Amino acid sequence: MSDSSGHGSAEVVLDVRNMEMSVGGTTILIDVSFQLERGRTISVVGPSGSGKSTLLRCLNRLERISSGSVLLGGVHTDALPAPALRSRIGLVSQKFALFGHLDALANVTLGLRRTRHLSKPAADEQAREWLNRVGLAGLEKRRPHELSGGQQQRVAIARAAALEPDVLLLDEVTSALDPELVEEVENVVLGLARSGTSLVVVTHEIPFAAKVADIMLMMEAGQVVETGPPQDVLASSRPRSQRFFARHLRGWGDSITSVGSAG
Ligand SMILES: Nc1ncnc2c1ncn2[C@@H]1O[C@H](COP(=O)(O)OP(=O)(O)OP(=O)(O)O)[C@@H](O)[C@H]1O
Ligand SMILES: [Mg+2]
Repeated sequence: MSDSSGHGSAEVVLDVRNMEMSVGGTTILIDVSFQLERGRTISVVGPSGSGKSTLLRCLNRLERISSGSVLLGGVHTDALPAPALRSRIGLVSQKFALFGHLDALANVTLGLRRTRHLSKPAADEQAREWLNRVGLAGLEKRRPHELSGGQQQRVAIARAAALEPDVLLLDEVTSALDPELVEEVENVVLGLARSGTSLVVVTHEIPFAAKVADIMLMMEAGQVVETGPPQDVLASSRPRSQRFFARHLRGWGDSITSVGSAG
């Protein structure tokens, strides 16, 4: 793992240029452009229906873009076969689909064996290491129904991260969880961010979006309307952005200022 302290020249791992996406005459993404530097984290916030999930799904081509381009490590992603692309740009969503008949360890080793072609002992070792990193040491033999929602979501994150994708996309990985389980999953994501994984994190939790990310991006009606360091975006003078943050930060009071500058 590289460190994320920002020394040395920044390599752009993901370069999104003027991306547009339409379905049946409806434009869902409009002129979306941003760059993710290797080892950095971008958080994506915005109202429901603003296009956050569609954006992620376009990045690993679960949805086709209508125009613009996505470059991964300088290479146009449309030059990559879909399986290769998806092993390099991983996606974990709210509806993490673990294999119910496999234990936690096997859920993680499966991808390592199929995609990375590791031997069983090597896959087992890496899977154990990743389960340990997400705080699940000792639970390797549990099947999904024997784990809490937060534990299952951590298995899903370990499974995706173990493949060491160039970029890991996380789509509201805490939104299906009971409130008391949110923090344990957020801490896992923070750990990944701090250890140099290149992440795009979609979340409704604005304080978390500010804490985890180097760059925060806000979407509205398919467009990027704010982008920059979290504390700058949170301090935006744009009235609609201010109303959005006010709605989502009720109860947080002034603490957001410190959250925004902590990362
Ligand atoms: N395949 C599709 N066909 C038609 N409309 C779609 C399709 N996918 C998404 N949309 C529409 O595109 C818009 C953006 O949806 P998207 O799921 O990306 O929003 P979101 O920001 O992730 O919302 P949420 O916060 O509720 O998850 C919505 O209006 C949605 O109904
Ligand atoms: Mg969504």
